[in-house]
Amino acid sequence: MLSAPCALLDHLMKQITDSKQLQDVLGKLKRRRKTIGFVPTMGALHEGHLSLVRKSRKQNDITVVSIFVNPTQFGPKEDFKKYPRPLRKDSVLLKKAEVNFIFTPTPEGMYPEGLEKKGLSPAMKAALSLTKNLCGKFRPGHFEGVMIVVEKLFRIVQPSRAYFGAKDYQQAAVIQKMNEGLPFKIKIYVEPTIREKDGLAMSSRNQYLSPEERKRALAVSQTLFEVRRKILAGEKNLKKPISEAHRKLALSVDSVQYLEIVDPETLKPLSKVQKKMVVLTACYVGKTRLIDNVIIRTS
Ligand code: PAF
Repeated sequence: MLSAPCALLDHLMKQITDSKQLQDVLGKLKRRRKTIGFVPTMGALHEGHLSLVRKSRKQNDITVVSIFVNPTQFGPKEDFKKYPRPLRKDSVLLKKAEVNFIFTPTPEGMYPEGLEKKGLSPAMKAALSLTKNLCGKFRPGHFEGVMIVVEKLFRIVQPSRAYFGAKDYQQAAVIQKMNEGLPFKIKIYVEPTIREKDGLAMSSRNQYLSPEERKRALAVSQTLFEVRRKILAGEKNLKKPISEAHRKLALSVDSVQYLEIVDPETLKPLSKVQKKMVVLTACYVGKTRLIDNVIIRTS
């Protein structure tokens, strides 16, 4: 149940850049027993992010959205510089969605110690085993950067609940594991992937795609749904649908980094069918790296 309205909150969304200022205002609200929902983002918001905001609004008195393009989770050859930063447009969307606070820290504010990744906390170390395969194999250091920034954000906001999208399946698994070792008692919600009408998973990076690439990108979700269909139709040998799908996907996209069926918790590759599995892929269409996944439940 949400608590009664509070004088500390007017209906205007507030943008805060300073973490101490955010902690002060949230501290006051927490002392009045307000629950805080938190949606961490890198901006360039789409319907996927907004679905997380709506869930947070439903479950909490206050919703905080952070927008921070985190330098430590990008590799040296990745798209950190060109990553879209449409802050004005994002603010309009968040205001419309009735968010209470946008937190827009600076790199210096988040990383006063510098950007070098050193000294992972025990909670992060406990999650490292989930970072070795899938995206972790192709983006060395990426999940360490994600954990470092999410731990910092959790420490600043200390929400009751935090919301992540299932499209970043491995990220959500890593954050959930790390969270188990953190002292903040945050409940994590992983919400379903939101798709375009034709099935393409929504992503801030979709805007990089040219019209011709956008057409070819459709093969990504179609491939995953096809693998699921074959397994649900009784295919027992997981290698067969995967190698067929891999071959077919490679005809549409420019390169396939991985296409795997794994255990939903350990993220270890599976050779035999089990009750719950997840099929995931990462591939390049032009210069754009796309990821997607689909859960397969056999009973
Ligand atoms: O999923 C994202 O947008 C980012 O990886 C996150 C969780 C906000 C950390 O920078």
